[in-house]
Amino acid sequence: MSITVTPVSPDFVAEIAGIDLARPLPDTDRETIQAAIDRYAIVVFHGQTLTDEQQIDFARRFGPIHSSAQRARHTSIKHRLASSEIADISNLDGDSRVLAPDAKRRLDWLANRLWHTDASFRAVPGALSLLYAHVVPDEGGDTEFADLRAAYEALPAATRGRIDGLIAEHSIWHSRGQLSVTRYTDEELASLPPVPQPVVRTSPRTGRKSLYVASHASHIIGMPVPDGRLLLMDLIEHATQPRFVHRHRWRRGDLVIWDNRCTMHRARPFDTTLVRDLRRVTTRDESAGLEQAA
Ligand SMILES: [Fe+2]
Repeated sequence: MSITVTPVSPDFVAEIAGIDLARPLPDTDRETIQAAIDRYAIVVFHGQTLTDEQQIDFARRFGPIHSSAQRARHTSIKHRLASSEIADISNLDGDSRVLAPDAKRRLDWLANRLWHTDASFRAVPGALSLLYAHVVPDEGGDTEFADLRAAYEALPAATRGRIDGLIAEHSIWHSRGQLSVTRYTDEELASLPPVPQPVVRTSPRTGRKSLYVASHASHIIGMPVPDGRLLLMDLIEHATQPRFVHRHRWRRGDLVIWDNRCTMHRARPFDTTLVRDLRRVTTRDESAGLEQAA
């Protein structure tokens, strides 16, 4: 079995086959996968069978792991998954029952339906997310991905000149607030304070520039809040036009890796009385976004 990389489009999304991710990863295959991520931003593997530990071990080959921020903002609930290195993206509670409509974690999780990039609300943001499907409904629950490199390159030169160097404030409470999900304790709120992030990033690996925007971004530092917010809304609207968007239809056993530094994503609706069990490991970026911009 040898690894193959098949592009879905010339430089956005590729499918990778011929590899069992549960087995120790040879260096040459790791390099092939990393090169595919650099080029295509999103890579898809089908038909995998992974325990949480195998998923974490595989992710660790691509960088240090970000502990899940879920534990910081849900201090008083029972968590289903043992490791803090894996985030529970399911609609299940600590006893593996479908979350009640008013469950706090369900309301928080609904913010995954807004366009975002993982962990941009942390000073050292997320680099790669690795999301693995244990159980998926027959219909709905797709994930859409937007290519923020192509979106940046398609902006008029004057707009690129205007936004280069801008800094946005990102906060997880801003994305939740858009859905009026505000039931957090002072301790939870204090655990994830707002952070500054550049609006335009340059990949240290490829040199390619991209937008870096998300529903977590509330305003532009140094600009009146409404002006900054409207600019962010315009950039998100631009970046999520169909020509920049790929939709992933989940199958059990899929593992999708995306680069949070140059993509956004959102979950699509499904019948939440049915089980959807996805689990995510996220690697940590090399340094704070602003340090990289400097
Ligand atoms: Fe996400």
